[in-house]
Amino acid sequence: MGQIDPHVNAGNMGKSTASPGGNPARSDQDTEALYPELAAFLRLARTRRSVRHFKDTPLPQGLIEQLLTAAQWAPSGYNLQPTHFIVIDSPALKKKLRPACMGQSQVEEAPAVVLFAGNRNALQHNMEATLQADLDAGAITPAYARQIRRFIQLALDPGLGGTGWMWKAFLAPVGKIMMPVPSIPAVQKTYWLGKQAALCAMNFMLAAHAAGLATVPMEGFDESRVRAVCELPAHLHVVLVVPVGYAAGDMPLKTRLPLQSMISYNGYQGKPAAGST
Ligand SMILES: Cc1cc2nc3c(=O)[nH]c(=O)nc-3n(C[C@H](O)[C@H](O)[C@H](O)COP(=O)(O)O)c2cc1C
Repeated sequence: MGQIDPHVNAGNMGKSTASPGGNPARSDQDTEALYPELAAFLRLARTRRSVRHFKDTPLPQGLIEQLLTAAQWAPSGYNLQPTHFIVIDSPALKKKLRPACMGQSQVEEAPAVVLFAGNRNALQHNMEATLQADLDAGAITPAYARQIRRFIQLALDPGLGGTGWMWKAFLAPVGKIMMPVPSIPAVQKTYWLGKQAALCAMNFMLAAHAAGLATVPMEGFDESRVRAVCELPAHLHVVLVVPVGYAAGDMPLKTRLPLQSMISYNGYQGKPAAGST
């Protein structure tokens, strides 16, 4: 799978770790033997790193769309697919974009920058198309489509003149007293879009790494300035800016906290924060 540098420091690769109940977690050797595709995926995930210096080598023709295919296949709430990908490869536009991204040089250095933006109007723009495509593919039943049409309006429609979200915002905490209420995208639209776009961006970054490319996810940007520079409509909310290209030089691999400090089973059990005594 791809061109992964085998010489990188890959953290605790190869060691087994203990999990609760006395069952030793699988070693990497076990995983390699029993689940070769998982082993390849773990190598990919562990060796991706954020890169901030890029060669000026252009991307091979058509490759970015392959990477965006991986992004597109990320799951999305109600399969509404609200993420829009804006590819910026014009040197003039990248130069203008850099100041809106706190002057971060990777925005100008990378041959392309992808903006992962959430569509605030995904309900109106995508609902019928996605339901119809899933019906045609036999992926959903007409009864499910009817149910989704009703529920999705409740969850995502901001209501008449955009004010309907207010009663939803008010009813959610009250309703919660009587029954579980899920998070309501009409109320937390930006947060909702953030989840959808981030999943796409992660698929994109791993796909890029598999193709021997490097990326860096960025939240260090002024969202309204990025929109203005790229002349994006107001219904697109830019969630992440991701430069992509060939890494210039070797980047050290960052570390991760011990896995066991990040896991608890069947509840939290008062697990102390990592690093606390
Ligand atoms: C949501 C998010 C926002 C980030 N924003 C920036 C950024 O604006 N500039 C930057 O250089 N790195 C940014 N990073 C990269 C992180 O610094 C990096 O992921 C972290 O240090 C771990 O390193 P690794 O990605 O190489 O494992 C961001 C990462 C995430 C997940």
